[in-house]
Amino acid sequence: MTALAFSGPRAATGPLVLGIETSCDETGVGLVRGHELLADAVASSVDEHARFGGVVPEVASRAHLEAMVPTVQRALEQAGVRLADVDAIAVTAGPGLAGALLVGVCAAKAYALALDKPLYGVNHLAAHVAVDQLEHGQLPAPAIALLVSGGHSSLLLVPDVATQIRPLGATIDDAAGEAFDKVARVLGLPFPGGPHIDRAAAEGDAAHVPFPRAKYRDGTSDFSFSGLKTAVARWVEAREAAGEPVPVADVAASFQEAVADVLTRKAVDACRAHGVEHLVIGGGVAANSRLRALAQERCDGAGIRLRVPRPGLCTDNGAMVAALGAELHARGVPGSDLNFPADSSLPVTMITTPS
Ligand code: KG4
Ligand code: ZN
Repeated sequence: MTALAFSGPRAATGPLVLGIETSCDETGVGLVRGHELLADAVASSVDEHARFGGVVPEVASRAHLEAMVPTVQRALEQAGVRLADVDAIAVTAGPGLAGALLVGVCAAKAYALALDKPLYGVNHLAAHVAVDQLEHGQLPAPAIALLVSGGHSSLLLVPDVATQIRPLGATIDDAAGEAFDKVARVLGLPFPGGPHIDRAAAEGDAAHVPFPRAKYRDGTSDFSFSGLKTAVARWVEAREAAGEPVPVADVAASFQEAVADVLTRKAVDACRAHGVEHLVIGGGVAANSRLRALAQERCDGAGIRLRVPRPGLCTDNGAMVAALGAELHARGVPGSDLNFPADSSLPVTMITTPS
């Protein structure tokens, strides 16, 4: 009987953690037990920003205010649990847009006080790494993380996602996602540009334009995407000035190839330099199909094990915050002191705000 009891589907056990994410334009609420994802509700204000070509902080904050309680309700319904069942709460304390962060932080503090449960103020970037545990189980230690989002592009050494993250390098100018968004605008594609470039590139020739590979200070783990973005803009301008049509799919594919080439090369180099066998990729740009394919190809060639969460978990969501909260809770890390602020420039080394 005892043996049979373990042969059925794994029942979710352990503490129930609610995660709240409001660092940019997505109001995300996730529910996680251990490494098991029970709910992932996201309300996006992206359509309200599209006509401005970028996220308008005030608009995002107001949208978070309106979406917060309904999104929490939706997550609870998805998971089939009640608010009173929640054992701990986690919220993005930073980095991100100050006003947007503030909405999530205030809501999370209110829930924590009302429920009398611990609250973890967590780092958005660490959460982008921790979310992979929901798909692929415990992160091997150490791992190298390539974190590529709209606001950040970094290589991190991750001895332990709950307690220790060491930055190895970062972009010196534009983030990879920012470059995708700006190049999309040059090509007349809607905001946010990443998914549109990804789709357009599927029909294009990646070798059409040999855009520069900005290997900023070769041998380091730093990136630079501003020169590439300018090179695309100049190339498009020259075509337009000559009265020639712009081959959007080919330019998108060539640009995407240049980004994926540099990111994967530097990530594999960092793994080799630090003798690390595991690479995890996170953040919105990790949803990019070419980046995922090229990373797999290069990791296979270098004997590195690659972990990338499914695209829906790469872009901002509450599940990633709940995943990191669940890890902290499982380690017995005490909840944060409730006085923590929303910190728009929280460093990646601060995984959780002090208890
Ligand atoms: O992590 P994320 O959702 O938000 C931030 O924390 O910034 O990342 C958003 C970024 C945007 O720049 C968006 O264009 C990019 O991720 N992105 C993509 C793709 N999906 C989202 N970039 C390239 N290819 C994609 N499929
Ligand atoms: Zn993000």
